Formats: sequence, structure tokens, C-alpha cells
Amino acid sequence: MPRQLFVTTALPYANGHFHIGHIMEYIQADIWVRFQRMQGHQVHFVGADDAHGAPIMIAAEKAGKTPQQFVADIAAGRKPYLDGFHISFDHWSSTDSPENHELAQSIYRALRDQGLIEVRPIEQFFDPEKSMFLPDRFIKGECPKCGAKDQYGDSCEVCGAVYSPTEVKNPYSALSGATPVLKTSDHYFFKLSDPRCFNFLENWTQDGKLQSEVANKIKEWFTKDEEGKGGLGDWDISRDAPYFGIEIPDAPGKYFYVWLDAPVGYLASLKSYFEAGGPKARYGETRSFEQFIADPAVEQVHFIGKDITYFHTLFWPAMLQFSGRKLPNQINVHGFMTVNNGEKMSKSRGTGLDPLKYLSLGMNAEWLRYYIAAKLNARVEDVDFNKDDFMARVNSDLIGKYINIASRAAGFIAKRFAGQLTAAIGDDGQTLLKALQAGQPAIVDLYEQRDMGKVLREIMLLADRVNEYVDANKPWELAKQEGQDARLQEVCTVCIEAFRLLSLYLKPVLPALAANVEAFLKIAPMTFGDSGKLLGAHVIGEYKHLMQRVDPKMLEALFEPPPAPVVEAPKPGGEDIADTITIDDFVKVDLRIAKIVNAEHVEGSTKLLRLTLDVGEGRTRNVFSGIKEAYKPEDLIGKHTVMVANLAPRKMKFGVSEGMVLAASHADEKGTPGIYVLEPLAGAQPGMRIR
Ligand code: 2FM
Ligand code: ZN
Repeated sequence: MPRQLFVTTALPYANGHFHIGHIMEYIQADIWVRFQRMQGHQVHFVGADDAHGAPIMIAAEKAGKTPQQFVADIAAGRKPYLDGFHISFDHWSSTDSPENHELAQSIYRALRDQGLIEVRPIEQFFDPEKSMFLPDRFIKGECPKCGAKDQYGDSCEVCGAVYSPTEVKNPYSALSGATPVLKTSDHYFFKLSDPRCFNFLENWTQDGKLQSEVANKIKEWFTKDEEGKGGLGDWDISRDAPYFGIEIPDAPGKYFYVWLDAPVGYLASLKSYFEAGGPKARYGETRSFEQFIADPAVEQVHFIGKDITYFHTLFWPAMLQFSGRKLPNQINVHGFMTVNNGEKMSKSRGTGLDPLKYLSLGMNAEWLRYYIAAKLNARVEDVDFNKDDFMARVNSDLIGKYINIASRAAGFIAKRFAGQLTAAIGDDGQTLLKALQAGQPAIVDLYEQRDMGKVLREIMLLADRVNEYVDANKPWELAKQEGQDARLQEVCTVCIEAFRLLSLYLKPVLPALAANVEAFLKIAPMTFGDSGKLLGAHVIGEYKHLMQRVDPKMLEALFEPPPAPVVEAPKPGGEDIADTITIDDFVKVDLRIAKIVNAEHVEGSTKLLRLTLDVGEGRTRNVFSGIKEAYKPEDLIGKHTVMVANLAPRKMKFGVSEGMVLAASHADEKGTPGIYVLEPLAGAQPGMRIR
């Protein structure tokens, strides 16, 4: 009977693109999924965007978008990463889907009916300007321990202290800058401290299904200290409006905390996959989603990072158990990805190795799949990407030991034997091929255990044996010797058969390469069921180079910091300086100090003021000026300004304008109140020329 597997990776927050940490997790899960499919098992591999929560709501507001639009835009950018690294999700949804709203609410109702929900008032910081409760991350202030300024509400980056937001000195809202006030509101709690939950979790987490270091960590979480503090506390699952999330039934203005509905998103994505007819089309599945997910034969497998263990090993199983649902079968926890011995790839700081840059440099996605697989094991250890190690493993192992087997044999089979392999294989060849076939059970077992590094070590040991065979038989010398045709064909056939077996074993890691190998060998898609039979007198296709070596220049380019953004020279006042003029041009403009002896509104004009100006001529001038929005007439009377005194008089709707008053404005704000009439420093007299 094929196994029925429901496999997920952690749902990424929809507030940023994938970084290498996401890609590492997806590659790990994808290899395992492809391995299971190649064993003939049925796998539903789904993901989704984790859409809800305050940070996304706030980021959307900053971007001037609705949260829905914001997360949709992020989701639209997912494909190049998933396709680029050959991640074979069957379905991708969002935690803001109707399925998730419905499932999260129904799970909540079931927990409530069990008496596991309690409402309690709690006091929290509230931003009076934004009218919202502030998540800890959005409260800043001075560290209560070391006094460092601008620290987050939960921990200090300077001294490392951890504290609660109410301890922060001079707190302010990172959203508005306002001083937050303490305010009380009702919160909904999932009573994990209830003996039913506690006892269930104590058993469920310690019965051997979890990785041992994970189970040990959880034990610490259960333990109370001498003061009786710690242990399993109740879980605050509500947030007050405004919040981007799912409404809590019968609780107006209350929403589920994002971490309540996020894991439900695993089920919701599978449900939407069922509703789209995916399982039916792929496996002839006739059950409904609810029937499928309730079937004890279905195995539910989650791949997650170590930072979210708490949510997945305590909250999530408790939610499932007490809403009458089936529990996960595996929660596979991995470490973080670090780059060049360095910094952790945190969720917010995805620096170091940009996955799309990697692809855009023409670097082969399968080099990275191979490298990550080589470094992975079934424990919760961090995985470091190291440039030199990467080059060595790809160039020496993958290309040097494996790809070269095909390139050394294929040419002779094509040129000398018209692509024809032989069924006549002598003892030495048989022994080698049997050894390769005998390697399969261990490889399968290690894949199953997610010990990918060991899988690849086993495969490379087999490749070493093939290379020993090649070196012992030297096909390039046989090719030059008279009467050695049959032996040449036999040796090259053994190489090709061996290469096929190695390709089969590597296929979960290198799916695109395996597809090219299948095309080259003219064989059906390889599965673990067909290592037993040899190809015999089969005709293969033409060999085209299967994989390039890593060029060190690519790695240099990959880690080169992105060029500093080109800063465009600012345009003063919003416009370029006008073309150069000569002094002769300038003196043509006769600028004079004018005294504003009167200023008044112009009936029928929304823009103009009528100014009466004294320019020392023994008479006054009448000038219309478009400054009505910026000045009240009474504020101008008696002031001095500058005017163009030799401008040809202009007849306007309201009379003749005999000159122009000078005023400053930004290019984009002409005619608005952003207009400033020039005024000379004290002492200037009407009629004085400006030069
Ligand atoms: O830590 C995170 O990135 C979360 N978005 C993971 C959620 S996993 C699941 F619960 F949805
Ligand atoms: Zn501090």
C-alpha cells in the first residue's frame, strides 16, 4: 500500500520575499517529498502565505495599500523562487483564504466548547494617536538595565537584557512617536495550563516521535523554577481591532492572534487543494478533505525552523487534539542557514545570499540543492554556506566524481557503437553494478530519516568505486587498441549503467539533471523500483554536457555588495537651473525696490491681489500678483519688495499690470500657499536698483 503523506513547510510571512533560509527549508522538504514520490507514495505537498498580523497591517499602511493588496503583491513574487529552485509544491494558498477563516473559527468553537477558552482583562500599551494596542516590537524606549536609547519593547540590542514593555524607560510608539498609555481590554486565552492540555502535551511530546534535542528542549518549557514560575502558561490568542486577521466568533472587535490561524493555514491550504480537484486529478482521490484529513492512515508531516518549535510542538498539537482532530505525525525541525561562517539568516535580515541574485548570475539551482543536501542531517544544526566548500563539493564531488563518469563513456558508445549498449557484461562489471544496486536500501533508509548528508556520502562512495573501475579499464586506451571493441563497449556500458544508478539515487536532490539524464539515456522517469533491472542492449541518445563547473567569479559576484543606489543630483527647488546668460542679458532686466503702499482683494479673482507700488518715480504703479492664497492684504501693506520695473505693461481682465513682483516657490507648488514674496533687508529704499 502506498503511504499517504500530507507535507508542509512553515508558512512564510507575506511581508517580504524569500531569503536563503526559506529556500533551504523548501529544498530540504522538496528532496524528501520527491524521494517519497519516487518510492511510489502519494504526497500532497502544500504551502501558503502567512498573511495576518500587526506587522503586515502596518507595512501595508506604510506602502499605501490594503493588507489584502499588500499580501497579494508579495504572493505574486513567489513563483520565480519556487520554480527557480525546483520546489515542487502541489498547491500554494494564503491564511487569509475563506477556507482558513472557516477552519480557524471552527477549531476555536470546538476549543471553547471544551471549556478551554477563558476571557481575562489585561493591561497593555496603547497608542493614543493611532488608537491601537501596540505589539511589543512597536514600543521603543530606553533599556531599563543599561539605559541604551531606542531599544525595542522586549529586549535590548546593546546589553542583551530581556524585559517586558512596561519596564522600558520613556517609552514611545514606533508608529506615531506618541507616548503610549496603559489600557485594559479583554483578551481570550487558550488554557494550556488546564491539566488535560498539560498531560496530553507531556505525553505527546515525549513519546519518541520528535527529534531528541527537540523533546529535551520542550521538557525545559514544562518545568517550573523554584519560585513556581515558568511551566506551561495560558496562551493569549486574541488581539483587538484594528488588526488584520480572522474575527473571533461571538467576540466583536476581537481577532485571532496571527499564530492561532497560521498553522490552521496548513489544513486550509490542503482543503483548497482538494476543492481545486488536485488530489483527484493526481491520485484519483475520491474522499473529501475532511474524510482525508481524519483518516488515521494519512501522515501529516511538517518541516519547520527551530525558532518556531514552541508553536508547532505545543500550541498546534493542543489545538488539534482538543478540537477533535488528528495530530501531526512528524515535526521535522531544522537549524538556521548561515553564510560564510557568519551571521544568522534571520527572518527580518535576510542578508548574505540572495536567492534570485544566485539564479540571475546563471548559477545552477542544483548546485545549491546538492550543497544544502550535503550539509543537512536530521538534527537541529545550523547549516553554513561556505564559498570554498561549495566550490569544492560541486566541482570535485558532483562534477568530478559523478558527471565525469558519463562524459568519459558516452562518446565511445555514440561514435563507435551507434549508441548501442551491450547485454554482455563480464564478472568485474557485474560485481560493480551489483554493489551499486546493493547500496539502495541504505540510501533509501537515510533519505527516509532525512539524513541527506549521509545519503550523498554513500552515493559518492559508490561513485568512487565506479571511478576505480574506469581507471582500471581505461576506455580511452581500449579505444586505441586493435580487437578491443567488445571490451570497450562492455566497459562503457558498465559506466553508463552505473551512471544511471547514481542518477537515480541523486534524483530527489537533482531533479532537473535527472530529467536530462533520462532524455539522454532514452529511459522512462526513474523511480526506486527500477534499479534492479539493467538496460541491456539498449540504444541511448546523444550525450550533451550535463552540468558546468562553478566559476569562482560567480561566487565573487554573488557576495559582492549591491552597488550603492545611484543618487540623482537634487533639482534645486524642483527644477534645473536655467541656461546660462551673460551679464548683458541680466542687465536687461531692471529690478527695483518697491514699497507696497496698498494691497487689496480683486473682486472676482481667487488668485490675485491688487498691489499699489511706489518705485520712487513720483507716482505709483498698479501690479496684479498671484499671491492671494499666501498673504492677507493687510500683512503686505508697508513692506518693501522687489519688482521687475521694465516689464512691458500687460492688459489683464481686471486692469493693466505695470510690472511684476518677485516671489519664490518650489516648482511643484506654484500658486499654492508655498509662495514667498521677496523682502530686502532693512534700509532699502523704493527705486533702488538691484544688480
Ligand atoms: O515564523 C514564521 O515565518 C511564520 N510565518 C511561520 C508560520 S508557520 C505556520 F504556522 F503557519
Ligand atoms: Zn540594555
